[in-house]
Amino acid sequence: MARLTGKVALIVGGGADGPAKAGDKLSIGNGRATAIMCAREGATVMVADRSLELAQQTAAAIREEGGRADAVAADVSIEDQCRGAVEATTRAFSALHLLVNNVGIAIGGNLLKTTTENFDKMLAVNLRSHFLMMRYAVPEIAKAGGGAIVNVSSLAALRSNSQISYEATKAALLGLSRSAAVSHARDTIRVNTILPGLIDSSMVRRLVGDRESAVGPRIPMRRQGTPWEIANAILFLLSADASYITGTELIVDGGLAAR
Ligand SMILES: NC(=O)c1ccc[n+]([C@@H]2O[C@H](COP(=O)([O-])OP(=O)(O)OC[C@H]3O[C@@H](n4cnc5c(N)ncnc54)[C@H](O)[C@@H]3O)[C@@H](O)[C@H]2O)c1
Repeated sequence: MARLTGKVALIVGGGADGPAKAGDKLSIGNGRATAIMCAREGATVMVADRSLELAQQTAAAIREEGGRADAVAADVSIEDQCRGAVEATTRAFSALHLLVNNVGIAIGGNLLKTTTENFDKMLAVNLRSHFLMMRYAVPEIAKAGGGAIVNVSSLAALRSNSQISYEATKAALLGLSRSAAVSHARDTIRVNTILPGLIDSSMVRRLVGDRESAVGPRIPMRRQGTPWEIANAILFLLSADASYITGTELIVDGGLAAR
């Protein structure tokens, strides 16, 4: 039986903002792959994204496979739009059980190259948005009898590559998730964080292009991960297979952090 049958999932940042991989019809990133995998496992999916067009592309791809999905525009750096994404989900599908906070941007550089304005934007998009999405989603998930939340952090939470605001926000996300997990364990809401390593995603293709030959040799498994491998790990944390796992972090990096 499919692992998410009967569940309603809200995937935030479920578009894919970047070029498709050579040979692929549709661009795939971590958020889009997660939305598609949740639907394949039986969930009804609401795709939220700053770009309605990107969210609609994901929802259309799910419906083409016979799944159930809709799309909503939400810029999660704006509080009202976080509330709006949750409301749109419960209005359309009468419940909310699962939330994936996939939104994450990378601007600025090291300490002296990062302006205050850039830092504030990174806080709003990479951290405050996850806090807000959880604040609006948790009461609905509790009302539905419990569920699960996965926040998408990064290996950059643990290892530095001179991207100060990215690393700081991704590290803070671990604390945010742990705190929410402990507060809401009694509501049967599990909250976990996933830390992707180097993934060949839409975001990376947009920002740096094809980096496979440059980074592959550095990774113990000798290749970047795929967004589908991130989606599989998120799916595990969302599903009853992870029923006793909360407040923790899962690194998905082909062995990079262990090196
Ligand atoms: N690719 C990697 O190597 C890698 C590694 C570690 C972590 N990550 C994390 O994975 C996540 C992104 O992966 P992706 O492949 O799905 O990227 P992506 O950029 O293709 O998708 C993210 C989606 O978020 C949307 N978005 C951006 N700002 C938004 C906002 N303010 N409100 C609502 N939507 C917004 C974009 O429109 C896009 O569709 C990020 O959290 C990133 O930090 C990626």
